[in-house]
Amino acid sequence: MAQIIDGKKISQDIKDELKEKVTALKDTGTEVALAVIQVGNDPASSVYVRNKKKACEYIGIRSLSYELPEETTEDALIELIEKLNKNETVNGILVQLPVPKHIDPDKIIRTISPEKDVDGFHPQNVGKLVIGEEGFVSCTPAGIIQLLKRSGISIDGKDCVVVGRSNIVGKPMAMLLLRENGTVTICHSHTKNLKEVCQRADILVAAIGKPKFFDESYVKDGAVVIDVGIHRNAENKLCGDVDYDKVADKVSAITPVPGGVGPMTIAMLMNNCVEAALRMNNR
Ligand code: GUN
Repeated sequence: MAQIIDGKKISQDIKDELKEKVTALKDTGTEVALAVIQVGNDPASSVYVRNKKKACEYIGIRSLSYELPEETTEDALIELIEKLNKNETVNGILVQLPVPKHIDPDKIIRTISPEKDVDGFHPQNVGKLVIGEEGFVSCTPAGIIQLLKRSGISIDGKDCVVVGRSNIVGKPMAMLLLRENGTVTICHSHTKNLKEVCQRADILVAAIGKPKFFDESYVKDGAVVIDVGIHRNAENKLCGDVDYDKVADKVSAITPVPGGVGPMTIAMLMNNCVEAALRMNNR
């Protein structure tokens, strides 16, 4: 029987640990605060933003909410971020992506002070991840490392295959697995023999963005499978990039969808906010 990696439980544990830290910080007179900016009203973004604010409330982090109209100019958004960069009571700044088409997301990410970039998207934080310096790490891959560690799964020396090379998931995931001494392969749309490469994986991270793409023919007996995908099928049911029912019997551990990787992203965002406050305190 495969071990089902319970992201709901692990993310709850992390949030409870953070709640204790935030309470202790409050006792020393420090409040943790996150600014959340949403431009426009993309429905999916609204759900994410609401969940982020709910998590803040649970942990005791103050959330400052900026819901800006779709027609907000790039200059106005930059001006707001610069104001928040200077505000010493704000520890983290998050601009929910995607932003409307007339705004350049890369320019926005670069405007956020790297010390407050709790998403870990700023090139300075990406660079720090690559050279092993302390910075902020993208929340979904950081959450996957926590899922593995807290499930007692060792990464050291393992063949790790990451399918997907996005800046938010695939690339930072590969760097984190490398930092844990995994032997890492990154696959993408031009990879030849994708199936054969996946079959070699001790740890397979599926972030291809295609519903139920990976069936049992892609996985080695006893592998660990991490499913980053989240899709809604025709019956409005959630599924991942992995065909869970076909793969579950063959593997040693697997993340379900929902309740696997998904809840970890917000937990790690909260972790980064607390980290930001601790680092600001120590400067
Ligand atoms: N949009 C989808 N995922 C994310 C995320 O992790 N952070 C931000 N800021 N926007 C997103």
